[in-house]
Amino acid sequence: MSQIHFIGAGQMAEAIIRAAINSGNLSPEKVTLEDIDAERITTLQTRYQLSSQPDGEQALANADYIVMGVRPQDDIPAVTKRICQYAASHATVISIIAGVTLARLTELLGEKRAIARVIPNTLTDTGYGYSGAVLNDHVQVEPLSAFLESFGKVMFLEERLLDVFTGYGVAGPNYVYYFIESLVDAGVLAGLPRVQATEVAYENLVGAVEMLKISNRHPRQLLDINNSPAGVGMHGLYELNNSDFAAGLQRSVLAAVKRTTELASK
Ligand SMILES: NC(=O)c1ccc[n+]([C@@H]2O[C@H](COP(=O)([O-])OP(=O)(O)OC[C@H]3O[C@@H](n4cnc5c(N)ncnc54)[C@H](OP(=O)(O)O)[C@@H]3O)[C@@H](O)[C@H]2O)c1
Repeated sequence: MSQIHFIGAGQMAEAIIRAAINSGNLSPEKVTLEDIDAERITTLQTRYQLSSQPDGEQALANADYIVMGVRPQDDIPAVTKRICQYAASHATVISIIAGVTLARLTELLGEKRAIARVIPNTLTDTGYGYSGAVLNDHVQVEPLSAFLESFGKVMFLEERLLDVFTGYGVAGPNYVYYFIESLVDAGVLAGLPRVQATEVAYENLVGAVEMLKISNRHPRQLLDINNSPAGVGMHGLYELNNSDFAAGLQRSVLAAVKRTTELASK
């Protein structure tokens, strides 16, 4: 199992560590941390029974993977300078920093360094959801995939698609949460108690996805099967069509993608 060192042990780093350890794919003794806030290191070491580590420089030198978990506004050149100074030449740097491009990371870390730019999703604890990943030519894909899959699934992308992936995929659970909330409210509005309305919504959501997968059909084909002439389903869909539902959802995704690009260019 590879040795993983996190620089910046904040919320996202913790979500990754928790999911990877809980999924059984990462042993706590393989994780080392550094953070400006020493208390944060102690907290995570205690919470996840991480072994007490050598000092920051030695931990950095021992690492096979170095996760840059600081924020875009933090002193990124200072972090990369430490990596250039102390990291082993074989170590792969994984940056989860939003908006910092592979070109910029290469400028800071050097042409020879294996670098992965990864956008983790917010479903790390579930094993569902894709992280988006862009790699340079020096990265060995297989061992990296094993680490990334310890906190979700991984989708390798061209960098030009990363903002779209973020607005559509990483923001994706938000659309689903909002859809579920609206659907449950609809059930309550129609007269079903909230507990039952919620159970039905969850079951239908998971079941519909399974149905699409096992039938290997387009959603429209399943809609056609479910909607008899002048029936209940078709009457419901007619109102949904009148509501601008699809265009509203599509505008929402485009706005999220646009905002991702705006933030990255700041
Ligand atoms: N895809 C997603 O869903 C997603 C979600 C969240 C975050 N992210 C990305 O993940 C990154 C981390 O976000 P976060 O929410 O985990 O942020 P966070 O909780 O603020 O964590 C960042 C940590 O890095 C520390 N730090 C800052 N500069 C440092 C340095 N030079 N050396 C060592 N530690 C340093 C900070 O300490 P102080 O607080 O004391 O400064 C803080 O503990 C961001 O770049 C963000 O873009 C992605």
